[in-house]
Amino acid sequence: MQDNLEILSRAIKQWIPEDRPVSQAPPAKELEQILDLGLTHEGADQATLEQAIRDYLHYNPDVSQAGFFKLLYSGQNKPALLGDWITSLSNATMHTYQVGPVATLMELELIKQWNALVGFDQGEGVMVAGGSQANLIGMMLARHKACPDYKTKGAQGKTLVAYVSDQAHYSGEKAANVLGIGTDNLISVESDEAGRMKPAALDAAIELSKAEGKTPFYVCLTAGTTVVGAYDPVAECSDVAKKHDLWLHIDGAWGGPILFSEQHRHLLANSHLADSFTWDAHKLMNVPLTAAVILVKHPGALKACCSGGGGDYLFHADENADYNLGERSIQCGRRADSLKVWLSWKAAGNKGFSDKIDYLQQIKNQCVELVEQREGLEMLAPAVYQNVLFRYRPEHMTDEAQLRDLNIAICAEMRRSGGAYIDYARFKGRTGIRLILANADVTSEHLTELVDNCQRIGRELAAK
Ligand SMILES: Cc1ncc(COP(=O)(O)O)c(C=O)c1O
Repeated sequence: MQDNLEILSRAIKQWIPEDRPVSQAPPAKELEQILDLGLTHEGADQATLEQAIRDYLHYNPDVSQAGFFKLLYSGQNKPALLGDWITSLSNATMHTYQVGPVATLMELELIKQWNALVGFDQGEGVMVAGGSQANLIGMMLARHKACPDYKTKGAQGKTLVAYVSDQAHYSGEKAANVLGIGTDNLISVESDEAGRMKPAALDAAIELSKAEGKTPFYVCLTAGTTVVGAYDPVAECSDVAKKHDLWLHIDGAWGGPILFSEQHRHLLANSHLADSFTWDAHKLMNVPLTAAVILVKHPGALKACCSGGGGDYLFHADENADYNLGERSIQCGRRADSLKVWLSWKAAGNKGFSDKIDYLQQIKNQCVELVEQREGLEMLAPAVYQNVLFRYRPEHMTDEAQLRDLNIAICAEMRRSGGAYIDYARFKGRTGIRLILANADVTSEHLTELVDNCQRIGRELAAK
């Protein structure tokens, strides 16, 4: 154990210097040649293992730095990181209270707090391996409500149809695949110019499915879309779902934490109207991957939908039976993700996360102002949450394909020259640079430098 501690200490103090580039991995084919990846019959010595750890850290993008804007998480949540280490140290698993007693009680407390934020008074939940799995279970719960026999007897000739917006995360498609719904039966409902689902289009799509003899069963709204951070209108879409008696899920994997903020929670007003809710703690809350939850308004729904087997050897009817989370889950062995989330929530309090969101909203607004002021830069969508999608557009250039190439080239050049790690994305046919502001260490100075660099690189590339 002492050896491990020393290596960890060296890794932190020496192998990840603060001034290293945000991203420095060469293309995969090159990196394959550099690394000693082969697993062999004979074991290796300590020095070989240490070198492997150094390489691992060296080539991985440094998501903790202020210059990392690529993904929906960045920065470092120190209590959560500590929790992650301790979780591995104890190696608890979450199917029964007996093998994860404190982790179970922490998970239950987290679920209570999450439900309070969403507004599910009697809500339940279970932690899952990411937002995609939470969305999968949301769809599964809806399937169970619409067709309680589906679990045991299968489709029985029914064609179930699910609805998401055309801006929804691709996990909806994965879920339709895994659950045997058929990905063609996942309907992408048109969104408006800000990326929000159009309630009238949702209603029309459901009516059409019914007219075709199909069985609508599930509406999934997004709170904070992946590309532009749009919030679907909950009350209006809830009316439509109610009219057709459909399960309403909200995918708040990215945008759920807005509920911490008194000032900004109006973006996700009426979340309590949903039947289930996805929340990722490994995105805006910066807990190390993975940490996510599926919350459900109706107590008992998870067990009814997910349980099956294990009663004879695992889920004993002892005094702790009510605390066994395993039957609510689709996993057997499940990592104890609660400790890292609980530690960081305990340390920050609701106020800590609320302050973080209020701060990030403030620097996001400054960033949008900068983009709007700079010659040649333009926003491609309203930035209501922490996504800023903009592009460089020289006056003479109107061709979308050319503009796309130029903005992709800006991202590549930024990385090549050791600058910030930014990425591109397409929204409504136009491609821009997507910044994700999720790290409260980012300052307005960082953003000014970044916007200046995008403008400068854009100008230089366009001149060539
Ligand atoms: C809106 C949204 N939902 C769900 C997911 C999937 O979450 P996870 O990566 O935790 O599976 C993402 C990931 O980016 C997302 O942006």
